[in-house]
Amino acid sequence: MLNKLIQEFQKLYGAEGELRTYFAPGRVNLIGEHTDYNGGHVFPCALTLGTYAVVRDREDRGLRFYSMNFGSLGVLETSLDDLVPHKEASWTNYPKGVMWAFEKRGFHLTHGLDIAIFGDIPAGSGLSSSASLEVLTGIILKDTFGFDQVSMPEIALIGQDSENNFNGCNCGIMDQFASAMGRKDHAIFLDTSTLEYQYAPVLLEDAKIVITNSKVKHSLVNSAYNDRRRECETALSDLQTVTQIKTLGDLSNEAFESFQSAIKDPVCLKRARHAVHENQRTIQAVEALKNNDIALFGKLMNASHESLKTDYEVSCPEIDLLVDLAQAMPGVIGSRITGGGFGGCTVSIVKNDTVDRFVKEIGSAYQKETGHEAEFYIVEIGDGARKLQEV
Ligand code: GLA
Repeated sequence: MLNKLIQEFQKLYGAEGELRTYFAPGRVNLIGEHTDYNGGHVFPCALTLGTYAVVRDREDRGLRFYSMNFGSLGVLETSLDDLVPHKEASWTNYPKGVMWAFEKRGFHLTHGLDIAIFGDIPAGSGLSSSASLEVLTGIILKDTFGFDQVSMPEIALIGQDSENNFNGCNCGIMDQFASAMGRKDHAIFLDTSTLEYQYAPVLLEDAKIVITNSKVKHSLVNSAYNDRRRECETALSDLQTVTQIKTLGDLSNEAFESFQSAIKDPVCLKRARHAVHENQRTIQAVEALKNNDIALFGKLMNASHESLKTDYEVSCPEIDLLVDLAQAMPGVIGSRITGGGFGGCTVSIVKNDTVDRFVKEIGSAYQKETGHEAEFYIVEIGDGARKLQEV
């Protein structure tokens, strides 16, 4: 794929000069959903799917972008003097946002770039294609301009800043962190209140992680996401009238139980209950994995789904159907919605000898019921963002 991208680059922009290539992965979150803006824990891993870039320096301040995924848009041109979001700039608002966030921090970009990209993360699937593009841009800038002092967690934070303040989605840190910091065969146990993290090996001997793409994406994702954030903030400030906490992640289930009556609005109460319980479930799940208790890990995944469906209300009928079908199948250890919600993907842990049946039977039942053709990806956990080569 990279060779094809290099060829495209040279066809569009000319063959002269030195080229550099980079890759940043997408992610799947195993457990710990909607906890990352509540000071809780998450447990994502980087995928081997992601976004590739070919890059060449320019002498002026021009920027040229081309994506093989949006070939019909052709080459989109702008410059370092126009780092503001424009609707017509389409996907290039992501890399531009990261450039803007570097400049804002005082890292000056002294010349322009020609960039061509290609991504193999299925579009709109909730596997973080936009975060991967942000982190990809981050490592391109770090390498191109010699910003050695910018660490990989900082690149994740810059990506989040650009998404929040340039592209208007109030996301947490999980996706960018996973893309920047992923490690092959490991998931990242990240405390989002401190950004302390540990790598936990995910070596399932007789099972696979299977992602099922529902192929549906309901509208209002961004606004519903931002609503959930606000509801959690309201619950937190109610709780702060009776207990000294900084985030919902500071509460145990028992503490939440005893303080919950301070939350006035019943919807905010449900949202906060999810955030608190999900954080505790994530801590427990990582412990279970360390003890090789995959059955318990699976049960916690199932409980996570139930909570996301009932208390947090970020699931949808298509995803619930996929999860119900999966959880009812012998040989499936656990299954849940993954990512922001309202469509997208589920993540399941499936015994090796059940994987074929899982794909066949769930695929056809889902097709029959919804008319959509689900896609299945047997996951390999990959490394985080990196430079590939000079060409
Ligand atoms: C999206 C956001 C993340 C996180 C998840 C839900 O993927 O980008 O920050 O909040 O939703 O866990």
